[in-house]
Amino acid sequence: MRAVVIYESMYGNTHLVADAIADGIRPGADVSVLAVDRADAAALADADLVVVGGPTHVHGMTRASTRKAAAEAAREPGSGLEMDADAEGEGLREWFDATASLPRLAAAFDTRMHGPVTFTGRASKGIAKRLRAHGSRLVVEPESFLVSKENHLDDDELEHARTWGTTLLQSARATN
Ligand SMILES: Cc1cc2nc3c(=O)[nH]c(=O)nc-3n(C[C@H](O)[C@H](O)[C@H](O)COP(=O)(O)O)c2cc1C
Repeated sequence: MRAVVIYESMYGNTHLVADAIADGIRPGADVSVLAVDRADAAALADADLVVVGGPTHVHGMTRASTRKAAAEAAREPGSGLEMDADAEGEGLREWFDATASLPRLAAAFDTRMHGPVTFTGRASKGIAKRLRAHGSRLVVEPESFLVSKENHLDDDELEHARTWGTTLLQSARATN
């Protein structure tokens, strides 16, 4: 099985989670991790499974306006925030609009703040909806990984991500 993990990330947390999910998948599949602006048709051509994740902005997937706000926040003196290498450019929303076909099997994740989903929202809901609209079948429920108010990933979330990666691969194999 070949899997591709596609992430969008402004401050690097979703990127770290994407790498850890791939670590969980890797013992059982050929897996690559790609920033969303590098995930072209060729990268997905022979993949069986796509795992897509991004940060939650204003209750859902990012928009150009929220990405601009995130970049401005990082530039504030003393923000302690660093932009991820591939943070500039389009987000998952635009990528889905521009992408014609996706692998048959899929999973969705996001990063978001602590709290009930009714208060925080979660990008993975919109990601899952778009994966289904592209004809992909979700092999597990969408999952969230939590960051602090200061935008630091919780200590146990990388282990959570590795475990989730292993679980979703098992589910994909059972579905395949
Ligand atoms: C403009 C903006 C809006 C945000 N809105 C939400 C929100 O509605 N709910 C939430 O849980 N987190 C929100 N956050 C926090 C992000 O989810 C958090 O920055 C992100 O998960 C970090 O991932 P990244 O490091 O990959 O960018 C927001 C952050 C920014 C910059």
